[in-house]
Amino acid sequence: MDKEFDSNVNALNSLLTIIEQLGHIKDLDALLDRVLLEARQLTNADAGSIFLVDSMHNNLLNFSYIHNDTLFTSPVNKYIYSSQTLPINNKSIAGYVALTGKPVVLNDVYDIPADKPFGFNRAFDIKSGYRTKSVMAVPLKTSRDKIVGVLEIINALSAGKEVVSFTETDELVVNYFANNAAVAIERAMMTRETILRMVKMCELRDPKETGAHVNRVAAYSAEIYQKWALNKGIGSDEIKKTKDLLRIAAMLHDLGKVGISDVILKKPGKLDDQEFAIMKFHCILGARFFENSTSDLDVISAEIALNHHERWDGQGYPGKIDNIYDNEVHLGVGKKEGEIPFSARIVALADVYDALISRRAYKDAFPEEKTLEIIKQESAKHFDPEVVEAFLAIYEVIVAIHAKYQDEPSSSPG
Ligand SMILES: [Fe+2]
Ligand SMILES: [Fe+2]
Repeated sequence: MDKEFDSNVNALNSLLTIIEQLGHIKDLDALLDRVLLEARQLTNADAGSIFLVDSMHNNLLNFSYIHNDTLFTSPVNKYIYSSQTLPINNKSIAGYVALTGKPVVLNDVYDIPADKPFGFNRAFDIKSGYRTKSVMAVPLKTSRDKIVGVLEIINALSAGKEVVSFTETDELVVNYFANNAAVAIERAMMTRETILRMVKMCELRDPKETGAHVNRVAAYSAEIYQKWALNKGIGSDEIKKTKDLLRIAAMLHDLGKVGISDVILKKPGKLDDQEFAIMKFHCILGARFFENSTSDLDVISAEIALNHHERWDGQGYPGKIDNIYDNEVHLGVGKKEGEIPFSARIVALADVYDALISRRAYKDAFPEEKTLEIIKQESAKHFDPEVVEAFLAIYEVIVAIHAKYQDEPSSSPG
C-alpha cells in the first residue's frame, strides 16, 4: 500500500484517539483547553479562541477560551478569563458562524471579500500588537444540530513559521473534529450547570454560597494549583488531569451546609461558641456525600469538603477523625502542614480570599490592599506558604477571574 494511504490511516487513528479522550475530561474549561490545543495541532495554527452560546441568553456568545503561542508564554494567563461577549449576528465572524451554522475560512481577515456581511474587529490586534491573518471558524454543532459555540483557529503556520492559508483538508478535519468536540462540550456544560443547581439549593440555605462565589473559588483554585504544580516541576499531563478534577471538586466545598440549621446559617450576627461548633460539622457532612468513592473526582471532592477549614499551623477544623461515618463523630486535633491534602490547602486560600474581597450581606468588601496584606500575614499561619506564593505570582489572573464571575443581583424573596 502507498505511503500516503498509510499516513492518512495514521492521522485518522490519532484523530479517533483524541476524540475518545475528550470524553474523559470532566470540567468545561479543561475540555475547552484540550479542544483548542488539538484543533490547533491538527492544522498547525498559532492561535485560537472558543466562543460558547450563553446558557441564559441564546443570542449571545461568551468568549470562553483563548490560546496564542506568540503572545502567551505561560499556560497561566489572564486572557482565559476574559468577560467579553459578542451578539450572535452577521456582523462578526464568530457571530455569523453561530447564526448560520456555516464555517468561514479566510486567507486574510484584513482583506475580507466585499460579498461577506461580517467584518473583523481589530481591537485585540491593536492592543496586543498581534497580526491576525488566516482564520478558520467552524460551528460547534452537536449530533442534534444544536450549535453550542464556535471554534476559531488563527494563523496556520508553514514549516518555516510563515503564516499561510488553511487548506481544504484542514477544513474537513477540523469540521469533523468540531462536531465530536461539541458533544463533549455540551456534556461538560451540563455537568457545570448541574453543579450550579446544587449550589443554588445550598444558596437557599446559606446566601453566602452563591454560584458566582463557587465559580470564582473553583477557578482561583485551578489556576493557583497550576502555578504551584509548575513551580514544583510536576509533569504537564498530571497537572492537566488534576486541574480538571480540582476545578469541579472546589465548587462542591461547602455543600455540607445543607445539613446545618437555618437558624445558624442565616443568623445575622456572629455565631456563639455552641453555634460555631455545630457549623464546623458542615465539613464532615460535605465529605460524607462522597461515601463509597468510585472515582478520582469523588476522592478529591471529599478531601476538599473535609479539609478546607484546616489551617497550616494546625489551628483549623474539623481535625483528625478516625471515621467520619461514625454516628457520634467528634472533632479532632487540627491537621497541620503536609497532613492537609494539597487540594484543600489551595481551596482554603481561594475561599478566604474570595470572602474577604467580596461584598456580603453583613459586610463590605475589604479593600484590595488590606486583603493582600492579610493573605501575606497569614502565610505559614493559616495558609501554606507555597500556596500563598503561587497565588501572589498569578494575582492578575485572580483579578480577571473575580471580574468574570460577578454576583447577580439577589433574586431570593427576602
Ligand atoms: Fe466551608
Ligand atoms: Fe465558600
